[in-house]
Amino acid sequence: MMTEIPLAPWRSPLAHALHRNRSLPNSRYAQLATVRSDGFPANRTIVVRGFLPGGNQLRFVTDGRSEKVGQGDRAELCWYFPKTREQFRIRGRLRFVDGGSGDEGLLKARRMLWHELSDGARLSFLWPEPGMGRSAPEAFVIEPPDNMIPAEDFCLLLMEPIYVDHLELRGEPQNRSIYRLEDGEWEMGDVNP
Ligand SMILES: Cc1cc2nc3c(=O)[nH]c(=O)nc-3n(C[C@H](O)[C@H](O)[C@H](O)COP(=O)(O)O)c2cc1C
Repeated sequence: MMTEIPLAPWRSPLAHALHRNRSLPNSRYAQLATVRSDGFPANRTIVVRGFLPGGNQLRFVTDGRSEKVGQGDRAELCWYFPKTREQFRIRGRLRFVDGGSGDEGLLKARRMLWHELSDGARLSFLWPEPGMGRSAPEAFVIEPPDNMIPAEDFCLLLMEPIYVDHLELRGEPQNRSIYRLEDGEWEMGDVNP
């Protein structure tokens, strides 16, 4: 049986932001930064696809052939909500779940997310290798893949947060709260903006 993990205290303001920005589809886009082996950050836009049920892990999808996969597990997500003018910076560890995972629960979560994708998004996992020299147009003409069987290069990407910095620009003065995971417990405190 899956152990239920209590919702982290930053989940409530985040849920509130998601709700209040629900009319803006772009509020599901965030920037995910990883660390390259040469020490430079690597940053890219990604769609946040909610949480893995039963915990605080954020869900994303990515291509197993993309560069981020080789950039270690340390990451930070920067997520801005335009309507309410607030930012969440979420630091944590990444986990890439491909078809070779030995965890049946995660394999099921990967299949579910594959099923939820649009046809166009599913197709992109069959495109020629990302970052390589541009392939001929024919290489992108592909039959839509089965919506039940994930493509080999389809990865469920999870982020387990350890630190959250929430800044609200509205308010005089602005509000900024820090949430930190210490020995398995979330500590929260307000700081100057
Ligand atoms: C609006 C938008 C949404 C995107 N969503 C995703 C996504 O959900 N997953 C993903 O891997 N890349 C997504 N991308 C592409 C990434 O930004 C990036 O170009 C790609 O993942 C390769 O990154 P990498 O070489 O650092 O691994 C998105 C790009 C944009 C502009």
